Amino acid sequence: MKTRVLQYRFGGYSSFVEFGSEALLERFVGNRAVVVWDENTTSLLASLHELPSVTLPPGERTKSLDTVSHLLERFLEEGLERDATVMAVGGGVVCDASALAASLYMRGARLVLIPTTLLAMVDAALGGKTGVNFSGYKNLAGTFYPAEQIIIIPETLETLPQREYLSGLAEVIKSAMLGDPALFEILAARVDAVLERDREVVEELILRSVAVKGRIVEQDFTERGGREWLNLGHTFAHALESVTGFEGWTHGEAVAWGIVQALRCGEAAGITDPGYAATATELLRQYGFRCEIDTISVDALIDAMQHDKKSRAGRVRYVLQRRPGETELRELNPELIRGVLNRNLS
Ligand code: GLY
Repeated sequence: MKTRVLQYRFGGYSSFVEFGSEALLERFVGNRAVVVWDENTTSLLASLHELPSVTLPPGERTKSLDTVSHLLERFLEEGLERDATVMAVGGGVVCDASALAASLYMRGARLVLIPTTLLAMVDAALGGKTGVNFSGYKNLAGTFYPAEQIIIIPETLETLPQREYLSGLAEVIKSAMLGDPALFEILAARVDAVLERDREVVEELILRSVAVKGRIVEQDFTERGGREWLNLGHTFAHALESVTGFEGWTHGEAVAWGIVQALRCGEAAGITDPGYAATATELLRQYGFRCEIDTISVDALIDAMQHDKKSRAGRVRYVLQRRPGETELRELNPELIRGVLNRNLS
């Protein structure tokens, strides 16, 4: 892959996103740096093997304050000074927890993120949200601390299980809906190539999704107005994840289902164009995402949504779309949501 570099300004920080091969990492060897990875990613990127490292257990339970505390201890043991670099290699869990630890260490160590899942490449690694779960809430404890560099090496996706790849693809579809009609076209026209992970097509999906997110976060780094759009489908998805106890659905599968519910609620509220809702839902179906659920308690889903941690003054605002690229936040009557969810139990 030809090296490509994008540069973003997030608040007072600059973030460079570099796309290329493992050769991009050679410049870090011999530097003061610690690599943080998990048991699934240590075998990737042999060029980092000479650096001191911390290996975390994989999985959501690692996203905790205990992990952050363990990382801070390890940074101290390694004698890291403030200008040393924390390099996180992995998916969202490793990137988010390491970034939080880097943001706290001596009030901010240098941070390089090397995402190795499609989800982390197109979402988690970019935009400076760090975080761990706390008291049953996802990402409750966190900071805004963008990585100086995000290095995307698409070859690392080769060993990613297909279901995890699809999980990231849901966020790619979301990006297309939010801000890139040409990406939507590619997704609709190249379904087989996307599913077979054709190299050129995958690189295009990543580049375009990063560009959509980068533009949105540059406008609203600290989520005061605009960045919330990136949560399209997520209020529904988080409720589903919470009601199902995070069993049976990957994050992306829940987001895909959530996007469909947002389209249907938007349509029922007279906001979303019905033709657009049908086209976007069909695209999600083409990638095999579940748009309906066979058994679930609608009351429990509504209750979980009312307790969404992003609610303001107890009022939940849903990300809805009128048509491609036209996104807004709206409160919705719970009875409207109940009606839509009840109609869509299969
Ligand atoms: N993942 C949503 C955001 O970065 O705001």
